[in-house]
Amino acid sequence: MQRFETYLTENLPKVPSFHPIYEDALGVMLEAGGKRFRPMLLLSIVDAYEPMLYNSSLPVALAIEMLHTYSLIHDDLPAMDNADLRRGHPTLHKRYDEVTAILAGDALNTEAFYLIAKAPLREDVKIKLVELLARDGGSRGMVLGQAIDCYFENKPLDLEQIKTLHTNKTAKLIAVSLQMGAVIVGLEKKIQDELYAFGIDLGLLFQIQDDIIDETQSEEEAGKTTGIDADKNSFVNLLGLDETVAQADALAKDLQRRFEDFDEKLQTALQPLMNKYLHRHN
Ligand code: IPE
Ligand code: IPE
Ligand code: MG
Ligand code: MG
Ligand code: MG
Repeated sequence: MQRFETYLTENLPKVPSFHPIYEDALGVMLEAGGKRFRPMLLLSIVDAYEPMLYNSSLPVALAIEMLHTYSLIHDDLPAMDNADLRRGHPTLHKRYDEVTAILAGDALNTEAFYLIAKAPLREDVKIKLVELLARDGGSRGMVLGQAIDCYFENKPLDLEQIKTLHTNKTAKLIAVSLQMGAVIVGLEKKIQDELYAFGIDLGLLFQIQDDIIDETQSEEEAGKTTGIDADKNSFVNLLGLDETVAQADALAKDLQRRFEDFDEKLQTALQPLMNKYLHRHN
């Protein structure tokens, strides 16, 4: 974790120009912190199987965090969730203005792919990483999820549709963080697929917990604006808080069971993250 934080701090986007705030705007939300869940998933896999590749994987981990951070900056905009607080700090459009927040998000999105392209890894590996991150972080993944989330505000979806929404919005980026780690260390396709399927359910749990956090935590506790999901197709709005908590706990149990079928190296690497995030709404 510390190695990633140091790497991030030393590798914030550097784009010097006469623009007085542009470069700061690209870095401020990355520096602000966050759980770093997605980069840690990737790095845990690399550390378990090919620790020699850890340093070469840091740009890829940072790329995922950049794409995720861009999604948060845009998610908070007045046109989307209209939130004032993120990662314990004013959202980017509050700190600066909407134009700056939109453009900083755009910049982090493409910067992510620039970092992967320049990483000291095999060319064929990098092409695969670009493919995977573009697949799940863009039009057929996170962006589709955000589009459904916003378009269907105040238009109730059914449980299956809400699962599709959460899968695209959140779970695919979490699942692909595991898969990208597996690609870097050359795990066979079957294991990649198992990890990805596990990651989808882990990501679904992560978003269900996030919906619970919106309902139950103050903005000081969460570090972000909460209590703003009333119009959303969240699990809490569909099932109520108690039933959502019960479902989250059942899913966490199921994931823990499936996790124990992974090989020992993988379990050892991922267990700390599982411990921390399987029950994060408690
Ligand atoms: C928040 O993600 C948005 C969701 C997809 C639930 P995180 O909860 O990972 O936010 P940070 O990165 O810790 O700020
Ligand atoms: C956003 O989900 C997920 C993204 C793809 C950014 P939310 O809108 O629930 O995330 P928070 O609660 O603002 O972090
Ligand atoms: Mg949102
Ligand atoms: Mg939001
Ligand atoms: Mg939320």
